[in-house]
Amino acid sequence: MSAKKETLGKTVGVVVAVCLVCSIIVSGAAVGLRSLQQNNAALDKQSNIIEAAGLTEKAAGDIAGTFEKYVEERFVDLESGEYVEVPEGYDMYKAAKDPEYAVKVEGSNVGFQQRASVASVYIVKDDAGAVSRIILPVHGSGLWDLMYGLLAVDADGNTIRELVYYQQKETPGLGGEVQNPSWKAKWNGKKLYENGEVAIQVKKGENANNEYAVDALSGATLTSNGVQNTLSYWVGENGYGPYLKNQTWKS
Ligand SMILES: Cc1cc2nc3c(=O)[nH]c(=O)nc-3n(C[C@H](O)[C@H](O)[C@H](O)COP(=O)(O)O)c2cc1C
Repeated sequence: MSAKKETLGKTVGVVVAVCLVCSIIVSGAAVGLRSLQQNNAALDKQSNIIEAAGLTEKAAGDIAGTFEKYVEERFVDLESGEYVEVPEGYDMYKAAKDPEYAVKVEGSNVGFQQRASVASVYIVKDDAGAVSRIILPVHGSGLWDLMYGLLAVDADGNTIRELVYYQQKETPGLGGEVQNPSWKAKWNGKKLYENGEVAIQVKKGENANNEYAVDALSGATLTSNGVQNTLSYWVGENGYGPYLKNQTWKS
């Protein structure tokens, strides 16, 4: 009986010791790798911005250096369209849930109920220091979930250069085609506004080939509608509209 007890006690002791050692290893690894994960996330974000900036080839793998040289992040009060200062580490997606910054989104089909009052924008400059593109983070619902992208426009605040979706859960081959290079290429040169009104359209059929329209994805009308709603919201008066109309980057 006592031998049995000893065996049970030892077994439990060994299990506890193994668990303890494993948990120390796992938590040690998690803490040790945190900064590496953060660096990778930052690099991934920069790499998407570099793509929207049209600088992927020029970067030739040096994403951080190219970002540092050509891109500047600024923060825009969306209501006024003016630049503002924010606390270090400000994140517009986290700020959407912060009472100090949260603004309710009403009467919109964009798929979220709150956004931050202050949004990030990325100003891209050429070698001569002139603004070449403005990159605007945008998000809105697709068929399955929110889709996150970067809209890049020329310094005229009207001509689209890129629409880069970097996070989405649409079906590969259907809505997932938002990331297909041939669909992405259709945005280059399209215009956001006609006579000051939002004019950009994602639509099916033969009318889709004017300067304000991009062909909808075939077999993915719902995702295409999501892209439309996202752009209509973000370049409209409740999004970056005031910033784009003021051309704040020129002031
Ligand atoms: C398994 C499955 C996945 C689908 N994924 C998408 C999708 O990612 N995006 C989308 O718009 N439609 C998707 N659809 C299709 C929609 O239900 C709908 O039929 C489609 O949006 C209609 O587009 P169309 O008018 O271009 O054919 C999916 C359908 C099925 C059955």
